[in-house]
Amino acid sequence: MLRWGLLSTARINRRLIPAIRAAEGAELVAVASRDRARAEAYARQWGIPRAWGNYEALLTDPQVDVVYISLPNSLHAEWTIRAAQQGKHVLCEKPLALSVEQVDRIIDAAESAGVVIAEAVMYLYHPLLQKAQRLVKAGAIGQATLARAAFTFFLDRLHDVRWKPDLGGGSLWDVGSYPVSFIRWMVGEPEEVFGWQTLSAGGVDTAFAGILRYDNGILAHFDSGFRQQFYLQAQVTGTEGTLTLKRPFLMTPESHLVLQRAGEEERVVAGPAQDPYRCEVEALTAAVLDGTPLPVPLDLSRANVATLAALYRSARAGKPEVIPET
Ligand SMILES: NC(=O)c1ccc[n+]([C@@H]2O[C@H](COP(=O)([O-])OP(=O)(O)OC[C@H]3O[C@@H](n4cnc5c(N)ncnc54)[C@H](OP(=O)(O)O)[C@@H]3O)[C@@H](O)[C@H]2O)c1
Repeated sequence: MLRWGLLSTARINRRLIPAIRAAEGAELVAVASRDRARAEAYARQWGIPRAWGNYEALLTDPQVDVVYISLPNSLHAEWTIRAAQQGKHVLCEKPLALSVEQVDRIIDAAESAGVVIAEAVMYLYHPLLQKAQRLVKAGAIGQATLARAAFTFFLDRLHDVRWKPDLGGGSLWDVGSYPVSFIRWMVGEPEEVFGWQTLSAGGVDTAFAGILRYDNGILAHFDSGFRQQFYLQAQVTGTEGTLTLKRPFLMTPESHLVLQRAGEEERVVAGPAQDPYRCEVEALTAAVLDGTPLPVPLDLSRANVATLAALYRSARAGKPEVIPET
């Protein structure tokens, strides 16, 4: 049994708390906040046994095995590394970091401490994503030649961390990480990217549109944004068919695949509905307790950060950016 602690009282915790409680081999034991009163009120509200009034205290709590990090994006790398240095396993929210150099320091910290670190890009832990990848690899749509994906919503909270450049705000780092990771999950790593962005007065992208180019001729395009109505898209198309992930990313019970080929349309599921947050908690648990390989290992998180960072560089420079060889 692994004992989990929450690092912050973020809104996203509302998804993780029931998932940790439902998961095999996991137990929720503590929460930390920058503010002691907030930590205590939160612990009472959610029935969490222990509350800490600063983040360090959670990291040195001997009764915590795994730390879930739901801080603003700019703090992910620092607190993931600090948790690893205290011997804690880590599930850190997406994006894992804001630069490849930060991911490399996270990988070093995991290796030195002998702990498991995973990025909480929850939808990739859902069995439908494994199924989608297998279908495309097996040639269900012939040769994949194009991918399309999108995640936009209307961000109406004025003081949200997503509006703040110094906290790693911006639509690409936030919801854009989903379409970009989907494209890479389905068709692999691009050679080159090109992006355009619309900036807010405060300096974060409120819309981002990008293109990924592959040496084998595949092209992919995506968009993300904060000033559009809610819209999700995830699709790969090829010489003989098209595979669409319906209700993608959030992975509700209605999420499923549609395979279109030869004028026929087939609905594909992957067993009973599953909570993607529970899937990621159980994947991390299995990696720690049984050494089971993570479905989303750190090299995939590293490649996602490399692609997102190159897209931002491209948008700033107004020209395509090659993804650096590593
Ligand atoms: N996988 C998913 O489905 C999903 C969905 C939404 C968000 N996320 C990710 O989860 C993370 C948190 O997002 P959220 O929307 O839940 O954030 P949020 O509600 O704004 O919470 C962020 C928390 O970080 C702490 N914090 C520390 N320094 C802060 C600072 N300078 N400014 C503001 N808060 C600070 C605060 O907790 P204390 O005051 O208690 O210390 C705050 O509650 C992001 O990385 C986001 O990308 C993932």
